[in-house]
Amino acid sequence: MALREIRVLGDEILKKTCREVKEMTPRMKELVNDMLDTMYEANGVGLAAPQVGILRRIVVIDISEEQNEPLIMINPRLLETEGEQTGDEGCLSLPGKAGEVTRPNYVKAIAYDTDMKEFEVEGTELLARAICHELDHLDGHMYVEKVNGPIHDVNNEEDEQE
Ligand code: NI
Repeated sequence: MALREIRVLGDEILKKTCREVKEMTPRMKELVNDMLDTMYEANGVGLAAPQVGILRRIVVIDISEEQNEPLIMINPRLLETEGEQTGDEGCLSLPGKAGEVTRPNYVKAIAYDTDMKEFEVEGTELLARAICHELDHLDGHMYVEKVNGPIHDVNNEEDEQE
């Protein structure tokens, strides 16, 4: 298990566009495993590679209660979005804070897994929100650009942070 330092809002790396992964090298696999460890350790439901300082199009998500169903997306792209949901959203790069963001309520995305096999994933509600949130990170965007109202403190440390 290896933890990586999570970059926080204000770090220039979080504003940069990430490059595609061309092949899954041992180093990239190690990065994916470290991202999972780092996300779980921080009680997050999602983490994108730039949040640990690596400008590659990789995200990890796990919205399961037991945090044992990792979704690893390499070079992810949205194929379809539908509907709307509005709710609080947090981010591991802005710990202890949340803000209300409107997102699609359904998304369909395509990505590669760690064997560089293409797969599609569909999600609604929290999964749809997490996918949109993480994909934004790959293009240098954070939810704070999309909040409807003020960003507020969250007292409950169990609150989901992406
Ligand atoms: Ni985030």
